[in-house]
Amino acid sequence: MKIIEARCAGACYGVQRALDLALEAADADRKAQTLGPLIHNPQVVAKLEQAGISVADSLDEVDGDLVIIRSHGVTPETKEAILSKGLSLIDATCPHVVRAQRAAADLARSGCTVVVVGEESHPEVEGLCAYARQAGGRVLVVASADELPEAIPEPVGIVVQTTQSRAKLDEVTAALGRRGIRPIVKDTICTATAMRQQAAADLARRVDAMVVIGGHNSSNTTRLYEICAQTAPRAYHVETPGELRREDFEGCDIVGVTAGASTPEDQISAVVDRLRSWS
Ligand code: F3S
Repeated sequence: MKIIEARCAGACYGVQRALDLALEAADADRKAQTLGPLIHNPQVVAKLEQAGISVADSLDEVDGDLVIIRSHGVTPETKEAILSKGLSLIDATCPHVVRAQRAAADLARSGCTVVVVGEESHPEVEGLCAYARQAGGRVLVVASADELPEAIPEPVGIVVQTTQSRAKLDEVTAALGRRGIRPIVKDTICTATAMRQQAAADLARRVDAMVVIGGHNSSNTTRLYEICAQTAPRAYHVETPGELRREDFEGCDIVGVTAGASTPEDQISAVVDRLRSWS
């Protein structure tokens, strides 16, 4: 059985950076808490917990003196609240998200109605809206062109949740164009997600089975699994090697492996090693 890893898979730059910052804090013996789980990966969250980095679901739950902000970022009000409580801060907001926050604020400052293309309840989108509002802007969030309201005061600026697809951005821009509105578009899409999806789709076409590694609670990993399941004859979503079953790979000549943007390298190697031991 031949094992092929996707050409682009696993932890993205922003997730790896957040993880490194958290582990540095642990190495320095700081008792820290992340505001919400650092990433959607139970094994990583447990490993951090063991290293003294626990999860606080809200600021009220923080009982240490150091708070780590995760890669999605937070609202400016949350940052201010952390500092005004006298707590120290490690800001692991992904630089791509920071760029989107600045773009939202710039559009608002220049008088635009800020249209945020993304999922309304996602923490990153909440942050983008809050930065735009703080800069004095009108803000609305749309998941698709269908959600655009009838009347939108001009000028209009668009900012995009980093993990959205370019097709979604184009759809919203085109819908505004049909109404004669020419928005200022800040393309804040991060290509990490699309690159992993494209690499997984390409590999899934060439294999007998695909293994997708990452948290069962990770939406980007679940999406990768769905993409693979559309094409590969068999597809399995696992977090650890213990979830693999040898009989599922009977008769397979080629097995493809990919992993979500919140899956660190050691988890990928552990699964690949188990598959190789059967080959
Ligand atoms: Fe950052 Fe893109 Fe990852 S925005 S957290 S590098 S998916």
